[in-house]
Amino acid sequence: MIEVNNVTKIFNRGKANEVTAVKQLSLIIPAQEYVVVVGSNGSGKSTLLNLIAGSTFATSGDIKLDGELVNRSPDYERSRWIARVFQNPLSGTAPDLSILDNFRLAALRTKPKGLSIGTTEAFKKLVQDKIAILGMGLENKVQQTMGTLSGGQRQALTLLMSVMDECRILLLDEPTAALDPRSADLVMRTAEELVKTFKLTAILITHNLKDAFNFGNRIILMGEGQIIKDFSSEEKSNLKQSDLFEWFS
Ligand SMILES: Nc1ncnc2c1ncn2[C@@H]1O[C@H](COP(=O)(O)OP(=O)(O)O)[C@@H](O)[C@H]1O
Ligand SMILES: [Mg+2]
Repeated sequence: MIEVNNVTKIFNRGKANEVTAVKQLSLIIPAQEYVVVVGSNGSGKSTLLNLIAGSTFATSGDIKLDGELVNRSPDYERSRWIARVFQNPLSGTAPDLSILDNFRLAALRTKPKGLSIGTTEAFKKLVQDKIAILGMGLENKVQQTMGTLSGGQRQALTLLMSVMDECRILLLDEPTAALDPRSADLVMRTAEELVKTFKLTAILITHNLKDAFNFGNRIILMGEGQIIKDFSSEEKSNLKQSDLFEWFS
């Protein structure tokens, strides 16, 4: 569960370029809910995600993850709960290394130093089993280098890597923004599949209203650092795509 309680984030406080990116925002996301966040540029969407992830701290207010107050804990401490995926599908992977080695690196990054990730064969099997979830046939190509895959395939694998260990929260900041429509669709379907399979609590920021309509079970519209609309899963299921376009414009 994610709890954001009356959180404000002011950048450059007291300076000429002071900006209130998030304004007295409160939001509760129960476990296993998949929330889609939409809103115009500069409305505070990424800042909200950064606050939850701990890559920036709130000016005031509280953030709790699974009931634990994390206001002052930095992102690397919160990585125990949180996995993140960003716009650029390349940023999370090494193109010259094989799929398998990329998974190995990802696993090592989040494990305490010195901890083994299992024998080569056992790890390979584990990775293959996970990749099979994607239904892309890549489980038989784990020795292929990452750079030879399409943007969509890479981003789908990045998503999978990010949820390999025990983390229960997935934060996605426009993961399809740099992709062609087909790859974007693949990534969106992968995200949905992983959220279900691993019972994740997830937040997706997107500019794509169609995606907002088709994926997730709650929609939040942000404007000027605040939540303007919040459609529960029930409200969302009664929502028409045209309504959403109307709210958005
Ligand atoms: N690190 C930062 N320093 C200063 N201002 C920032 C910083 N990050 C975001 N902002 C400002 O905060 C506001 C919200 O930005 P952001 O959260 O990135 O919006 P969105 O993701 O909805 O486009 C914008 O005015 C942006 O310029
Ligand atoms: Mg943003």
